[in-house]
Amino acid sequence: MRTRFIVGNWKMNKTASEATAFVRRLAQQVTDLAGIQVGLTPPFTALQAVREALGPAPLFLLGAQNLYWEEKGAFTGEVSGAMLKDLGCQFVLVGHSERRQYFGDQDAWTNKKVLAAIRHGLEPILCVGETLQDRDAGNTDLVIQRQLRAGLAGIEARALGTMTIAYEPVWAIGTGRAASSEQAVPVHRVIRRTIDELSGSNTGRHVRILYGGSVTPQNIADFLISEEIDGALVGGACLDPVSFATLLKVALGSSPSTT
Ligand code: PGA
Repeated sequence: MRTRFIVGNWKMNKTASEATAFVRRLAQQVTDLAGIQVGLTPPFTALQAVREALGPAPLFLLGAQNLYWEEKGAFTGEVSGAMLKDLGCQFVLVGHSERRQYFGDQDAWTNKKVLAAIRHGLEPILCVGETLQDRDAGNTDLVIQRQLRAGLAGIEARALGTMTIAYEPVWAIGTGRAASSEQAVPVHRVIRRTIDELSGSNTGRHVRILYGGSVTPQNIADFLISEEIDGALVGGACLDPVSFATLLKVALGSSPSTT
């Protein structure tokens, strides 16, 4: 049984004080998550503030948007897995397309980050996705398979089944042009098949796969209706507490169709 997971990706938004105000407003609107997991990923500078605002019995999981793979040392500007764990992070995004596009996070780095997260007891969410050019050229499956094979290299077969993957078509991120569930579902199946291949067994069905790219309160139900889609990675629509709370309420009320 895969637990649904909705993650708000704050990107480079909100100061620590704004983050505290956001969490207070969100907590007023959402008081019960009825079995789904919800994660918040503030920027590094607001992690401590969010942790404090969440209080001693947090309803939401705390995550980071990135990490560096070395343990410590002369890596100016970087943040280690141990530092995130110590701040109360439970998970971390790895390989987001903005990291790949603007900061040079290639597949090999992404793999080191995934392994570092696991080493520190943080759940990595490995983000994969094709560009519009890849899709138009009919290369979506190839690109996704390459990103998975490289990003998950060196992970034991058994551990693969506990992974969370976010499928985020690059052309859908921040564009208001979400993929349709007809476009997303076949890619989620490719992801499960690739995990089966990598693990040498039927492990793909245990992997949690989130869809990301222009998810809103208006379209989230279209994704969650599919049994293949286990949640969402939400950017723009997670920044306003009312919009995010509405999205969560819709998610709480939608269950996958078995037909
Ligand atoms: P978006 O971002 O919801 O604003 O498209 C999603 C993401 O980048 O994770």
